Amino acid sequence: MGSLLGGGPVAVLLLSLSFFVCSGVVDAWRPWPSQLHNNSSSKGKGKGEGGGGGGGGGDLEFGGSKKYEGSSDLVELRYHMGPVMTSNITVHIIWYGRWEAPEKRIIRGFIRSLSSSNVPSPSLAEWWSTVRLYTDQTGANISRAVVLGHEKNDRRCSRGTSLTRLSVQSIIKGAITASTKPLPIEPRDGLYLVLTAPHVRMQDFCGQVCGFHYFTFPSVVGYTLPYAWIGNSAKQCPGVCAYPFAVPAYMPGLKPLVPPNGNVGVDGMISVIAHEMAELSTNPLVNAWYAGQDPCFPTEIADLCEGIYGTGGGGSYTGQLSLDHRTGATYNLNGERRRFLVQWVWNPVLNYCFGPNALDK
Ligand SMILES: *[C@@H]1O[C@H](CO)[C@@H](O)[C@H](O)[C@H]1NC(C)=O
Ligand SMILES: *[C@@H]1O[C@H](CO)[C@@H](O)[C@H](O)[C@H]1NC(C)=O
Ligand SMILES: *[C@@H]1O[C@H](CO)[C@@H](O)[C@H](O)[C@H]1NC(C)=O
Ligand SMILES: *[C@@H]1O[C@H](CO)[C@@H](O)[C@H](O)[C@H]1NC(C)=O
Repeated sequence: MGSLLGGGPVAVLLLSLSFFVCSGVVDAWRPWPSQLHNNSSSKGKGKGEGGGGGGGGGDLEFGGSKKYEGSSDLVELRYHMGPVMTSNITVHIIWYGRWEAPEKRIIRGFIRSLSSSNVPSPSLAEWWSTVRLYTDQTGANISRAVVLGHEKNDRRCSRGTSLTRLSVQSIIKGAITASTKPLPIEPRDGLYLVLTAPHVRMQDFCGQVCGFHYFTFPSVVGYTLPYAWIGNSAKQCPGVCAYPFAVPAYMPGLKPLVPPNGNVGVDGMISVIAHEMAELSTNPLVNAWYAGQDPCFPTEIADLCEGIYGTGGGGSYTGQLSLDHRTGATYNLNGERRRFLVQWVWNPVLNYCFGPNALDK
């Protein structure tokens, strides 16, 4: 998710003009509210197959070229010499606001599944193996191991319920300096997730971002720690950030899919968490893997494939997914005792968006 606006955090960026100038025909898609008024300008960049959002309706206003999953010779993803996360990645979570135990279990289950090898294909660990194709200057790959680290509850919202991008850093500072059970300080292997509950507002949430990643400033936090923020959109904009488990009002006739873990907000967050973790690992200090000429506006490995979850995906069409006939839920990947819907990421060897559920491997 890549924009670096005025030194601010890297954001999930929508399709703006400079995006196209930078990276050519890429089909990242989310039903951002801005598409409401100028939907005609979306024509031609969406590439729906028209078959419907994973079983839902057609591609409505976003019909397009039927290009294949973002495949493009024009995407110039490059390595900019910075570090990537090559040693065991430890994920530390800050639960901001009120989180229920079953919700936490879904997210923990997702993180554990990233390096769980005894799960039937297509698995989350296989999905992570695409992320592992990225290397640093020494040729070291992204770590296979992703482990759940420590957790901290900020149930009472220490920084209030209307956050700015910068205030996320203060939340992290609070968690690593807490008098009881502070989070460990691990600039090299630690990956810090700040997850906000449905009532918590965040600058640009819903209009421009569903999550973002960046690193903390020593001047604010005392250390340089790679982190991501992801919001639960259930109350504020499920049709945008939890799409396709909810659909925006401006796409009437498109039926929301049933979420695999029974929670629209949390199941919707999973793909955004996956997106941010893929980008954090390959671009933790925003000087490693990204496309585009402008380092202030990087397009990263998950930005390139936003909205694509299966073969044929593009525009509002998710691509070919799997249906659990017992529950009616839609998913694309297996995890430990759970299933998830997770977007694809850019494969640097194949040069297109890829996931282990591809039908034409
Ligand atoms: C769509 O319109 C909004 C304002 O209504 C604007 O900010 C945005 O850049 C436009 N997007 C495109 C792709 O033209
Ligand atoms: C854009 O969206 C509006 C509202 O959904 C719809 O009425 C209009 O037909 C759309 N325009 C185009 C060109 O698709
Ligand atoms: C490491 O990355 C290289 C370059 O993409 C790739 O050829 C190799 O298969 C990767 N190794 C693993 C273990 O993923
Ligand atoms: C990394 O994780 C693997 C297994 O997941 C473990 O065997 C290894 O000891 C870990 N390495 C370090 C340096 O912690």
